[in-house]
Amino acid sequence: MTTAKCSVPYLDLKAQISPIRAEIDAAIADVVDNTAFILGDRLANFEKSFAEYCETPFAVGVDSGTQALHLILRAMGIGPGDEVITVPNTFIATVEAIIYTGATPVFADVNSDTWLMDPDKLAAAITPATKAIIPVHLFGHMVPWDEIVAVAGDIPIVEDACQAHGARYKGRRAGSLGRAAGFSFYPGKNLGGFGDGGGLTTADEAMVEFVMSHRHHGQGKIKNMHDAVGYTGRLDTLQAAILAVKLPHLDTWNAARRDIAAHYRARLEGKIRMPAIVADTEPVHHIFPIQAADPEGLIAKLRDEQVYCGRHYPVACNLQPALKSHIDPKTSCPIGESLCENIVSLPIFAEMTHNMVDVVCDLLL
Ligand SMILES: Cc1ncc(COP(=O)(O)O)c(C=O)c1O
Repeated sequence: MTTAKCSVPYLDLKAQISPIRAEIDAAIADVVDNTAFILGDRLANFEKSFAEYCETPFAVGVDSGTQALHLILRAMGIGPGDEVITVPNTFIATVEAIIYTGATPVFADVNSDTWLMDPDKLAAAITPATKAIIPVHLFGHMVPWDEIVAVAGDIPIVEDACQAHGARYKGRRAGSLGRAAGFSFYPGKNLGGFGDGGGLTTADEAMVEFVMSHRHHGQGKIKNMHDAVGYTGRLDTLQAAILAVKLPHLDTWNAARRDIAAHYRARLEGKIRMPAIVADTEPVHHIFPIQAADPEGLIAKLRDEQVYCGRHYPVACNLQPALKSHIDPKTSCPIGESLCENIVSLPIFAEMTHNMVDVVCDLLL
């Protein structure tokens, strides 16, 4: 079959929103008509639905994925003097959440096949000060959970599921595996609002109480009594109402992403370097990453043909200037650093067509 030339956006949110626009408009109108902007039933209902979706007892909405990870760590009592291990090739937010608590981020390099946390490197990074481990389900690919658990022993594991809404490991949803998980509802995520937002899932009731109080200025069960110094950290009710409309579509959208990813793989396997998928997992392909010798050159070439790519993330966190004073200067993650340098994120979204994939692949091969 010949490929019909067309422009390929990196992501097309208009195509996602258009078929459900009337429902979203009605949900927004309902919030506005009731001036129900902060907390309330609409937020609680979304939290319940999201917990059910993730197959976890509880979900709590907060103002970002970063805040979710931060408050999870705070609820676990992590602070100055503690170490928290994560990976170098993640969004800086994973590391910021650790730094906000006063703890020290430590990096375990990733596996060169999966590009995800390497259990052997994790084992080498653990010290008596390690108080938590944050593997990242990067690109919507689930980490090799059982192997990480085997290495972690009693050390609690927090999932960074900010790119993995709906993904599964051995049948279990992202967000249901660890002590807790942080999700982002940033607009471009597989489940995204119309602004910033985030949430966490957990089975830990004490953590839920801690986060519900801390997202709301430390207010406890009694109005205007503040048991702790907290934050303006709630998920907006307007965002919760929009997310509640989108959530029932998430599995369909994720299945469509899997179909697009399969078509990319069929065309590119053996010719372009892509991450291996961990056995027994069902990824949700938030990002479709490849390795390129000259990433910026490739992106420019594709842009000239109206094909738009991204980079997630071109600089490893351990090399970020902002983090320099927070990490051990001897930190070295050669695999993660090199993967970051050469990464290109190809367009992927549920409404993408096979022809669009072919347009991209024809330019790559
Ligand atoms: C892996 C990862 N962790 C954390 C975050 C932080 O989420 P947010 O932008 O909602 O704070 C993101 C969002 O981009 C992410 O991709």
